[in-house]
Amino acid sequence: MSTGVPTIDTQHKELIAATNEIGDAIEKENWANAIKKLLVFLKFYAEWHFGNEETCAAKHHCPMAGVNQEAHKKFIDTFGKLHDRYCQSDASDEIAHKIYDELCEWLVSHILRIDTQIGACIKDSLAKQA
Ligand SMILES: [Fe+2]
Repeated sequence: MSTGVPTIDTQHKELIAATNEIGDAIEKENWANAIKKLLVFLKFYAEWHFGNEETCAAKHHCPMAGVNQEAHKKFIDTFGKLHDRYCQSDASDEIAHKIYDELCEWLVSHILRIDTQIGACIKDSLAKQA
């Protein structure tokens, strides 16, 4: 799942680690508080990371920049709605599982389908500048 761009890969690892922690928290008793904290962190970190990635893609004129930006917007919307449902449901087990499944699915497919292409474009652009 490497994009070949170290800063992006490091940020992806952080997103995957937070998702794994949510998976671990779901397995435990009394996980509601831990999961709430992780969701808040993930929301903040994902938005921050998306901003970085989008700035980088735009700077290097990547053809996938628009597609990437749209996918990020969609994710923020879907994740935000699930997060709200989770909070309103008083930490529903079912919604926690749904969030975790969505996160796993989305991260893997997004990184493989789009971010690897963004990474290749950035690497090419940097190589041309060198
Ligand atoms: Fe992305």
